[in-house]
Amino acid sequence: MKYEIPVTKTSESRLPEVDFNDIPFGRVFSDHMFICDYRDGRWQEPRIVPFGPFMIHPAAMGLHYGQSIFEGMKASKSHDGRPLLFRPDMHAKRINASAERMCMPAFPEELFLAALKKLVGLDAAWIPPQAGSALYIRPLMFASDEFIGVKPSLNYRFIIFTGPVGPYYPKPVSLLAEQKYVRAVEGGTGEAKAAGNYGGALLPAKLAQEKGFDQVMWLDAHEFKNVQEVGTMNIFFVIDGTVVTPPTGGTILKGITRDSIITILKDKGFDIDIRPVTVDELIEAHRGGKLEEAFGSGTAAVVAHVSKIGIGDEVLDLPPVEERRIGELAKKTINDLRAGLIPDPYGWIVEVPVSEAAEV
Ligand code: COI
Repeated sequence: MKYEIPVTKTSESRLPEVDFNDIPFGRVFSDHMFICDYRDGRWQEPRIVPFGPFMIHPAAMGLHYGQSIFEGMKASKSHDGRPLLFRPDMHAKRINASAERMCMPAFPEELFLAALKKLVGLDAAWIPPQAGSALYIRPLMFASDEFIGVKPSLNYRFIIFTGPVGPYYPKPVSLLAEQKYVRAVEGGTGEAKAAGNYGGALLPAKLAQEKGFDQVMWLDAHEFKNVQEVGTMNIFFVIDGTVVTPPTGGTILKGITRDSIITILKDKGFDIDIRPVTVDELIEAHRGGKLEEAFGSGTAAVVAHVSKIGIGDEVLDLPPVEERRIGELAKKTINDLRAGLIPDPYGWIVEVPVSEAAEV
């Protein structure tokens, strides 16, 4: 199906105000945004309009009961200036998996992809060319019914907006294994990219920061033993030469960067074990000098090296970043794919045709 997405262009671009060499993450927004509303049982009036605030009813259900889900994606520019999207089909599928869990309507994948291409094509000049920078893309769906009462909303708004970003974590992160609060339990919403999952993590993250750590490392809710994920990322360890990451199993976000790293490293001949990892194993590996690397993965972070992990009274200091062979390789491969510097054997890179930009 071909979707018509009418465009109302901004009268004056804000781009000249932006310095791509100094972009605070998440604070700068491009000129346009996509909007589509769900009413009378179907998605209606897809459109691209100048970026800016919109009215929201005080009783909008998404504000009260948490029917709010989102995605995080990136567009980059190839070395010869073509706008590229990274695995947009996976994001289209994942937002619908989140929608299903949160009892929200699916958003048509084809429309998602068409909207992305048109929006990124239109604001292609906002993609920073600097290595490690990108155009961050935020699709968001929330319940917009004006109603007091807990039930699935009948109306929803779906938007996509973008903004140029530099690295999310400019330096390695320190993690504290969380031994009181939990992020997710089997049967819960941990696998969905639901707004509430992030809200619930704020207090433990703040407490970890007060103890001198950057982020929380989540453990299972039963025994506080198995590692789940960290802050805003999935987690990988390199133990005695083997790359290990926990299985998602309903409590861990199915990271698209995580999946990409598993595929890339397998292809490069590394042993990857997708299996539960316990904090005791990490302590033991560290004592034996076998905890060689730890890194988080996510759209925003790409690959963020872990400098140290606090577990109870122990602090596991990890080797210097210069020795992180595998994490660096994963990061470089993803960044090179995104910059079109190496061939893409996976079909992950989707070019935004120049005509998309020209047609509007
Ligand atoms: C991402 O990695 O894109 C995320 O969504 C995590 C965070 C910025 C909320």
